[in-house]
Amino acid sequence: MRKLAAGNWKMNGTSEDLDEILTLIAAHPAPKQCEMLICPPATLLARMAEKAAGSALQVGGQDCHAAPSGAHTGDISAEMLRDAGANWVILGHSERRQDHQETDQMIRAKMMTAHDHSLAVILCVGETRAEREAGRALEVVAGQLDRVLTRYRSDSDIGCRAENFAIAYEPVWAIGTGLTASSTEIAEVHSFIRNHISKEFGILGATGRAIRLLYGGSVKPSNAAEIFALPNVDGALVGGASLRASDFGAIVAAL
Ligand code: G3P
Repeated sequence: MRKLAAGNWKMNGTSEDLDEILTLIAAHPAPKQCEMLICPPATLLARMAEKAAGSALQVGGQDCHAAPSGAHTGDISAEMLRDAGANWVILGHSERRQDHQETDQMIRAKMMTAHDHSLAVILCVGETRAEREAGRALEVVAGQLDRVLTRYRSDSDIGCRAENFAIAYEPVWAIGTGLTASSTEIAEVHSFIRNHISKEFGILGATGRAIRLLYGGSVKPSNAAEIFALPNVDGALVGGASLRASDFGAIVAAL
């Protein structure tokens, strides 16, 4: 399974920023070592997908509603993301957990709907600074995984597979702060997640080993190579540095 470099533009970007992806595609027409993905604001998704059509760049959403459609003003369905050209969606980002009080149970429901509509999912997990300082990082990550994934559907009916599921470890205290988790911290949590998904959720054997574990939290061109050299790090979920094609391209090249 190729590694994955995913960019999360968050609530940034307007039409004038769309050509950034043309620069990225031109610089990395066919990266052999990894898949490239950008998740722009929903207002740019369809046009970005059109510009990226036929290229190595995939596009994705930053969230989707758990319901297939209906009276949910302002929300976006998985079907709408697919219709706009997305084939990935980020779920459970700490900023949504905080801003929208999203629970693991809500994220589980969103993930089911996303998979039902053939969207691959990047599931975000990670601890706060207080939880890290209390020595509870692994406990918190395990709890998030358990509440989203326990008794998740088996592979036979759109379960978690390496092609449609990735996990992003994003320590909340490293997001947007310039404070990257240390190599020791990243290696510890990624190894824990690898073992946890294999042992606890029946995602055994090759699938458990192939599901990509991404690191997110102040990934930059300057630290990407060191992070990607760590065991069980299969890519990155990049925020600020994904807004600039030159920076994100440098991270892609480091994979
Ligand atoms: O989803 C990725 C994001 O949370 C990381 O943000 O700006 O620290 O790379 P940033």
